[in-house]
Amino acid sequence: MKKKKEHKELSKMLRVDHAGEVSARKIYDGQLLILSGRKEAEEIKHMRDQEQHHLDKFDELLNEYNIRPSFLTPVWNLAGLTLGAVTALMGTKSAMACTIAVEEVIGEHYQKQAIKLKSSNKVLSKVLNEFADEELEHRNIAQENNGEEAFGYRIMKGIIQSGCRGAIKIAEKI
Ligand SMILES: [Fe+2]
Ligand SMILES: [Fe+2]
Repeated sequence: MKKKKEHKELSKMLRVDHAGEVSARKIYDGQLLILSGRKEAEEIKHMRDQEQHHLDKFDELLNEYNIRPSFLTPVWNLAGLTLGAVTALMGTKSAMACTIAVEEVIGEHYQKQAIKLKSSNKVLSKVLNEFADEELEHRNIAQENNGEEAFGYRIMKGIIQSGCRGAIKIAEKI
């Protein structure tokens, strides 16, 4: 019984993480569609490649633990791409503001999960801690690239972060 409950908990966690990485990779794909010629493109590409690595790892983990991905995976793809492209169209600073908002939520989300799994699954907890560090590094890169100077930064950040938290709740279930 305990095992079943544990697996259900783990399924929820990894399903959300997988969905999040699907979106994250697409956010940077969307940004690169618009900003490929800019000097910031190298940094965006670096973040995009790390999201791909995270996504590959969660793909592997879903297989290993026999967990289905979110039914809404196509929606997370499209939502990420749209968010990345639309904020990039508003300018580089807005794209970076989007990155700050998203990465802060994901980084803290992984930190919480890592703490939760610290005693029951040390290996996974370590992976999540590594990813948390990388997500927060992405936030720092976006701060260094003046994301906080974007027009309407506070409002945009609030809206994007509520969207991310809402998506987390949905992806846990569906
Ligand atoms: Fe990631
Ligand atoms: Fe990230």
